[in-house]
Amino acid sequence: MFQRYIFVTGGAGFVGSHLVIHLVEKYPEYYIVNYDKLNYCSSLKPLEYLRTKPNYKFILGDICDPQTVYNTLKKNNIDTILHLAAESHVDLSFENPLEFSLTNVYGSHVLINAAKELNIKLFFHMSTDEIYGGAHNEICCEESSFQPSNPYAATKAAAECIVMSYWRTYKLPVVMIRANNIYGPHQYPDKVVPRFISRLLQNKKCTIHGDGQKVRNFINVSDIVNAIDTLIHKGKHGEIYNIGSDFSISILELAKFLIKKYFKLDGRQKNLGKLELKKQLNGTKRPSMARFGKTKI
Ligand SMILES: NC(=O)c1ccc[n+]([C@@H]2O[C@H](COP(=O)([O-])OP(=O)(O)OC[C@H]3O[C@@H](n4cnc5c(N)ncnc54)[C@H](O)[C@@H]3O)[C@@H](O)[C@H]2O)c1
Repeated sequence: MFQRYIFVTGGAGFVGSHLVIHLVEKYPEYYIVNYDKLNYCSSLKPLEYLRTKPNYKFILGDICDPQTVYNTLKKNNIDTILHLAAESHVDLSFENPLEFSLTNVYGSHVLINAAKELNIKLFFHMSTDEIYGGAHNEICCEESSFQPSNPYAATKAAAECIVMSYWRTYKLPVVMIRANNIYGPHQYPDKVVPRFISRLLQNKKCTIHGDGQKVRNFINVSDIVNAIDTLIHKGKHGEIYNIGSDFSISILELAKFLIKKYFKLDGRQKNLGKLELKKQLNGTKRPSMARFGKTKI
């Protein structure tokens, strides 16, 4: 008998795997079910050592399959859902927008609907600052309007609307976060920080499309995991929380910083032969990302 039965979707992805490890290790009194369809960017490697833990189980499954989702939640006595599964790579969303809609919108709807049918005690939903559209680097607060500027952001905004409607209509206990760009260990190298690092390790150039002047805010994955831990215990139902950092950097400066670190150059040396600026790809132009005002926690 466990105190809490927690269903983590996307637990084999970047943020999800850190969250699963944190919860399994810190709370032996909680039972953690990791539900993931294992797409191209997932890995069970960092989670392998959890297999022998009595409070952990991995289930291969798709959030877009309503019957399996419902049965799995019921069979495992789930009382808490932490919904992180998503198609998460902005650039790919220009190529496969419908796949993003299917997973991020329909999949989220499947989950929250099952949560309602089973009287789940908490539905935690992971969203993104991309929903603000990063309009000209303005300071955003939770009340700022949605201005998604790419298919990924639009699907995340749509999912938010569905999730919050279950709070407003049925008082289903929902807590949501919108996070800045997250970085950290075992992130799939289609995201900017691991992409630059892995290119340097392969002796390739850090390639930037455009002038690299767009500024983004970054937050470490351990801070996000701690925020989620706090919010699943103390978050107010029906609330949305911006979770971000004050650390902002342009993509060009980020590349220069990593190149200097990699080659252990000091501030005076300039070996930026490893930097390559390319023409902006059509249809993948991204605005600067949102900066947050004071958060509520
Ligand atoms: N990484 C970031 O910078 C960032 C920033 C803000 C918000 N987010 C949000 O955080 C969450 C996690 O992001 P991430 O970077 O870990 O993403 P990720 O792409 O690394 O992991 C997503 C996981 O979801 C799984 N998944 C995808 N579709 C599924 C489906 N239909 N059924 C079951 N599992 C499925 C994938 O297999 C993968 O393991 C996402 O909701 C994302 O939108 C991420």
